[in-house]
Parts: sequence; structure tokens; C-alpha cells
Amino acid sequence: SVSPLTDVLGRPLRDLRLSVTDRCNLRCTYCMPAEVFGPDFAFLPRTELLSFEELERLTRVFVAGGVQKLRLTGGEPLLRRDLPDLIARLVRIEGVQDIAMTTNGLLLPRLAADLKAAGLRRVTVSLDSVDPEVFGRMNGLGVHPDRVLDGIEAALAAGLGVKVNTVVQRGVNDAALGELWAALRDRAVLRFIEFMDVGNHNGWNLDAVVPPREVLARLGGDFRPVDAQYRGEVASRWVDAEGHEAGLITSVTRPFCGDCTRARLSAVGVLYTCLFATGGLDLRSPLRDGASDGELAALLAGTWSARRDRYSEERGEATHADRPKVEMSHIGG
Ligand code: GTP
Ligand code: 5AD
Ligand code: SF4
Ligand code: SF4
Repeated sequence: SVSPLTDVLGRPLRDLRLSVTDRCNLRCTYCMPAEVFGPDFAFLPRTELLSFEELERLTRVFVAGGVQKLRLTGGEPLLRRDLPDLIARLVRIEGVQDIAMTTNGLLLPRLAADLKAAGLRRVTVSLDSVDPEVFGRMNGLGVHPDRVLDGIEAALAAGLGVKVNTVVQRGVNDAALGELWAALRDRAVLRFIEFMDVGNHNGWNLDAVVPPREVLARLGGDFRPVDAQYRGEVASRWVDAEGHEAGLITSVTRPFCGDCTRARLSAVGVLYTCLFATGGLDLRSPLRDGASDGELAALLAGTWSARRDRYSEERGEATHADRPKVEMSHIGG
């Protein structure tokens, strides 16, 4: 197998998160608030997006650099036309050991079977509450949680593995976590994500972050920690007495930059080496100007070997509130 590129802090390149669109059919207040991403918002025109051919070509270059795990994100990846065709291309790449997708689930009833047939193994569905009022407010459009629950059931019925991601915000959805846990613990692994200061519009403040102990207390039950499934796993895993699994993603209270092996590629082909980056490396221009695989590989190697990002660990040291960051809708979390 490939010996991976390694960064300044000794972290190998292992994961690639591919954003396939900047559009979304929800307007979550912490990600794409409706006041900013309104009816007149200029989303990327189609010609700007990497084509499936271009995505496949760049992915092969990343796999040659050490990537083993792929995740498709957005925006909402299922809004990208013919997405199963992209998955079918990516699963054929030798060296890809895992391929997953982060989705809001709304289009899964229509697409789950095709995604599975194309070779997708699992999905991670975002759902912040099963309380219609709470979820309606958080998704910015009043969409009912049953529509996401239908998506989860469609994924399970198609034979896809399912995890559920919940962003926790104090005073917004924390009181309804027990209800969410009770509704889904038999169906999926639930993961609770600390509200983060991603992007520039989400009104982040530390008081809204709910620490892990408090989340577990909200779920009720008697939890014990279990080992990570692989080195660098983002979530710390807990199981209750019945064996239901909850994951805690503590990027604020207990950052995990030391093991961060993730590269992110935006829908227009910009490589970001951190979720909180202010800028990245344009790979689309050289690609469209006829660069060889070797030239693209050299660009990737130059960037990864110079990488020293550890934003979440530095957050305590300085707030960086003044520094413009890449939007979540460009790199998909
Ligand atoms: P598995 O492969 O299922 O273990 O997935 P994962 O843990 O990589 O999960 P996923 O992509 O669903 O990540 C869950 C959430 O954790 C993301 O949506 C982000 O909000 C957060 N997250 C993931 N990676 C990072 C990271 O590198 N840095 C920070 N700060 N947060 C991250
Ligand atoms: N803080 C934490 N998680 C976030 N996500 C989006 N914005 C934030 C934020 N500000 C999560 C979504 C989804 C994934 C794409 O990232 O809920 O699970
Ligand atoms: Fe869309 Fe996901 Fe962002 Fe919500 S968190 S607006 S579903 S991309
Ligand atoms: Fe990786 Fe940046 Fe997240 Fe740290 S803050 S875990 S370096 S993406």
C-alpha cells in the first residue's frame, strides 16, 4: 500500500472530504442562515463545479498520496445531479477502503437504493431534533423532522449503514436531546457535535457549547466509554447498558487536531487543510490548464508537507474572530 504524505506535525494524509455542491435545501441557522443565504444569494454556476471526470482524477491523485477514506459532502450532496454515477466511479479506485456521505436525508427516500447499488456503504444523516418546532426553527425553513426520519428509514431499508449527526446548541435543542435519543438509538449510532465557530455568519459563542458530560446526562442511561474504532476517530464512543452507542464530537472542549488526517476539497477544486482555513490551494486551474498527474501530485505534496493547522487547539489561545474563514457550505463540515 501507499506510504502517505505527512505534514509538519507528523500527521499522515488519510481522508478526503469532497464537497460536490455549495447548495442546500435547508437553511440551518448555524451553517447557512436564511438571512445570508437568501433567494438572491449567488450560488456557484454549474460550469464552476468540478465535473465527475475531474473529481475522479483529483481523487486518484489524493489516493496516491495516502488517502484511504472518502466522504462526499456539500452543501447537500444529493442535490448534485446523478450523484450515484460519481460514487460508482470513486468506488472503483484502487486503494479506496471506505466511502461515506454526509447528508440532510431529505432526498434519501428517492435515492437510497441507487446510492447503495452504486457502491455506497453508509450515510451520516444530520438531524438536530425530532421536536417539530425545534427542528423547524433550526433548519430555517420549518421542515418537519418526519421527512428526515423517512430518509433514515429509506437508507436502512436499502441496506446502508446509518449514523446520525446532531449539532447541540444550548437553549436551542439541548432540552430535546433525550427525545431524539429515545427515537433513534435502536436505528442508528447517534453523534452529538459541539456547536463550532465555522464560517463567518453563525453567531457562535462559547456559552452555547454544551460539554460532553451534560449531553450524556440529557440522554439518561448509564454510559461507559468504549475504544475508538480507528486511530484519529473524531467521535469518542459511549454505550449505555443496552448497548446503544452515542458518539461525542468535542471539537471545542477537547480538540482532536493532533490526529487530524483530513483534507477537504471544495466543489470548485480548492484544497483546504483545515475546517477553519482562511484560504486554500486551487487545483482546478492547473487541472483545466492541462497539468499532468505528476504535477498535481507535486502540488498536493507541497501543500500537505507544509501543513501545520491546529485551529481547534489554538482556539483557546486566540479567538480569530476577525479572520474570514471558509464557509461550511463550501467544505461540508
Ligand atoms: P466516521 O467515518 O463515521 O467515523 O465519520 P467522521 O467521524 O469523520 O464523521 P463526520 O464526517 O460525520 O464528522 C462529524 C462532524 O464532526 C462533522 O460534520 C464536523 O462537524 C465535525 N468534524 C469532522 N471532522 C472535523 C475536523 O477535522 N475538525 C473539526 N473541528 N471538526 C470536525
Ligand atoms: N458546528 C458544528 N457542526 C456543524 N455542522 C454544520 N455547521 C456546524 C457548526 N457550526 C455539521 C452539520 C452536519 C455536518 C455537515 O456539519 O450538522 O452534520
Ligand atoms: Fe444544509 Fe447541512 Fe448546512 Fe444544514 S448543516 S444548511 S443541511 S449543509
Ligand atoms: Fe483538523 Fe483543523 Fe479540525 Fe483541527 S480544527 S481537527 S486541524 S480540521
